[in-house]
Amino acid sequence: MSSVAEIYQSMEYGPAPEGSGPALAWLRAHGNKFDLFIDGRWVAPASGAYFATLDPSKNRELAKVAHAGKADVDAAVAAARAAQPAWAALPGHTRARHLYAIARLVQRHARLLSVIETLDNGKPIRETRDIDIPLVARHFYHHAGWAQLMDTELAGSKAVGVVGQIIPWNFPLLMLAWKIAPALAAGNTIVLKPAEFTPLSALLLCELIERAGLPAGVVNIITGDGSTGAQMVEHPGIDKIAFTGSTEVGRIIRKATAGSGKHLTLELGGKSPFLVFNDADLDSAVEGVVDAIWFNQGQVCCAGSRLLVQEDIAPRFIAKLRARMETLRVGDPLDKCIDIGAIVAPVQLARIDQLVKQGVAEGATLWQPSWAVPTEGCFYPPSLFTDVHPASSIVQEEIFGPVLVAMSFRTPDEAVELANNTRYGLAASVWSESLNLALDVAPRLRCGVVWVNCTNTFDAACGFGGYRESGFGREGGIEGMHAYLEPDFEHALPQIDEPAAVEPYPGFVSGGVQLGGDGVGIDRTPKLYIGGKQVRPDGAYSRAVVGHGGRLCGEVGDGNRKDIRDAVEAARNATGWTGATAHGRAQVLYFIAENLQARAQDFRDRLAQLSGDAAAAAREVEATIARLFTYGAWADKFEGVVHNPPSRSVAIAMNEAIGVMGIACPDECPLLAFVSLVAPAIAVGNRVIVVPSQRFPLAATDLYQVLDTSDVPGGVVNIVTGVRDDLAKTLAEHDELESMWYFGPAAGSRMVEAASIGNMKRTWVNYGRRRDWFDRRQGEGREFLRHGVHVKNIWVPYGE
Ligand code: NAI
Repeated sequence: MSSVAEIYQSMEYGPAPEGSGPALAWLRAHGNKFDLFIDGRWVAPASGAYFATLDPSKNRELAKVAHAGKADVDAAVAAARAAQPAWAALPGHTRARHLYAIARLVQRHARLLSVIETLDNGKPIRETRDIDIPLVARHFYHHAGWAQLMDTELAGSKAVGVVGQIIPWNFPLLMLAWKIAPALAAGNTIVLKPAEFTPLSALLLCELIERAGLPAGVVNIITGDGSTGAQMVEHPGIDKIAFTGSTEVGRIIRKATAGSGKHLTLELGGKSPFLVFNDADLDSAVEGVVDAIWFNQGQVCCAGSRLLVQEDIAPRFIAKLRARMETLRVGDPLDKCIDIGAIVAPVQLARIDQLVKQGVAEGATLWQPSWAVPTEGCFYPPSLFTDVHPASSIVQEEIFGPVLVAMSFRTPDEAVELANNTRYGLAASVWSESLNLALDVAPRLRCGVVWVNCTNTFDAACGFGGYRESGFGREGGIEGMHAYLEPDFEHALPQIDEPAAVEPYPGFVSGGVQLGGDGVGIDRTPKLYIGGKQVRPDGAYSRAVVGHGGRLCGEVGDGNRKDIRDAVEAARNATGWTGATAHGRAQVLYFIAENLQARAQDFRDRLAQLSGDAAAAAREVEATIARLFTYGAWADKFEGVVHNPPSRSVAIAMNEAIGVMGIACPDECPLLAFVSLVAPAIAVGNRVIVVPSQRFPLAATDLYQVLDTSDVPGGVVNIVTGVRDDLAKTLAEHDELESMWYFGPAAGSRMVEAASIGNMKRTWVNYGRRRDWFDRRQGEGREFLRHGVHVKNIWVPYGE
């Protein structure tokens, strides 16, 4: 026992434990054993199997939970399906009241939830009490608001139906809230599976949901492992899967859902950079690093795990950081003075240890504080690697533990390049006292969230999510609501009935087919349009275009893989378009419309020659000109918003162009559909490779001259004619492409989704549903623009 005087001298912390009594009593009241929550009741798993969940700080068992198998997944999906129509039909106000009730109950039972979460996960009580659980309540409140406003603010949308949600163990209840609050607000019903390491807070929430009076079957919570998750993913009765977890499992899910018609959002791993410029407030930045990588033991998908420091301050910064690391406290997560708690499970601890050993073996310098971590339980010390190679495994792989790798950079450009040198794209943190510099760098970082002079801050109103191998989709804010909605007309659309098989090479049509059109005999066979130039197809083959009455209308180039590669290269280089002003892009779109108008008669003739219907052709040209005007109008209006989260910050939500996109067009309305897809994509700054209608490509190839005379920079619109589904497959497989839209028969949609898993690109496909391109709701507007952008949130705190 130290005397007060001694404590005053040493400033040692004493223990300040949070009591676990009420939480352990709650577990005991359940006999330390939990069933599945299906259709508003607790039911035993059909197999009778249970598994243990542990307190990782003491490696002791807390309870047994049911292991849901196929029959249980079936039962949960059936309950959700039965409950969905009535839940969606409730007035938004009634759903709002349910969500509001959950929020209130979470607040009332915040302490119990915090302690249960800390026991089951090992994270410090300070974090569950002050961060996780308050954010859970905030999420339900915010989404009660969306339920209330849905009729007006999200008019024209409907719930997707039954959603399957699979969540990880790092923020168990918060991830549950991120998943169920928007889904419920939108009118979906739910089957959710918590992670096997951390099911308890979800089970406690079931009791709160019962008390909130939600109708039976609206929320079903089933515990289990990856096999249970896989059964959910494959279940035909589920309309959408929302997943947070590892990129590896995300990829499996992408593959399993490809072509199933299920909606999908993925929030996957990261290796987020933490940039410190030489004018940063270094002491604040050191605290920032603590929050970036030692928050939640570094088990955070957006953890700032790659420290990039400007060279001239690097030695000083690293010295300060090591001094701070020496003062961090690792130990009993229920102690309120602990900075770092336990790693979630022995297997995760072993994984961290193995990756750190690999780093040492690869020649990096490892530094850890002088003190030892407790030996009982899953503890790992805060760790810092220097002298690392940018390509080494510890720099490239997500460690998901309290391990930081540090590198240096010389200039802002080099910082951006190093920061983007990752297959992930979730978050970044930028530290500089110069707001000009920080706001110049932020948009250049390829990730969904950028924190300026702060890190790991979250709010229900601000969308969160990534790019590339960090997944797609956003959670939070209105963009998070869209992820649980679909246009209300979509399911009623008729199926496209394009001929399934196309001749591999209808290149030369002989006998009985005459050259149609003007017949003046001047051969104007269009080539491909790549990089602003007409180029011969690599294969030097042409395809015949047969119009109305079997007349040969012309021939087009038969593009192949090499042509697609060239087109992608041209689009990649056309970066000026993405950087151009929205006003400038609007002018170009109007100019295209104007030049199309000047040649309207030619286009009318062309379409009439293809379809044989002059009146329809005239209507299509008129609608196409109007559509170009629509996107000229939108180009400078599809803007972001400024969020005002409860902390003293603004979060600037920018609509950012995706970059290089592929677009495959349907056969119907060959001019109007082409423009309806290309114009929104380029209006928001993308560069595109388009495969036009396979049967009637001449409507698109006639546009070459229009594009040439409309100041469209070379490489912004690239057009490759040929066998659409072959070309679309090549595009979907291409790693430089970040998004792919496909509008054609259902089989092509399935193929595009399956082919896109390599780099986890975003896809937007129509599952064979035929839109009426003349209908302005189906053919234009925000829906198209949204699919063309990422929402990036840039957080900027203010005040002293
Ligand atoms: P995981 O991705 O395997 O687990 C996440 C969830 O997916 C759990 O509920 C699990 O039961 C479920 N699951 C597993 N296999 C599945 C399948 N085939 N189909 C459907 N669901 C499946 O993550 P795990 O094994 O817990 O952690 C491994 C690594 O993943 C970590 O070291 C970390 O790098 C990363 N991770 C990333 C997270 C993030 O938030 N980005 C969260 C958790 C883990």
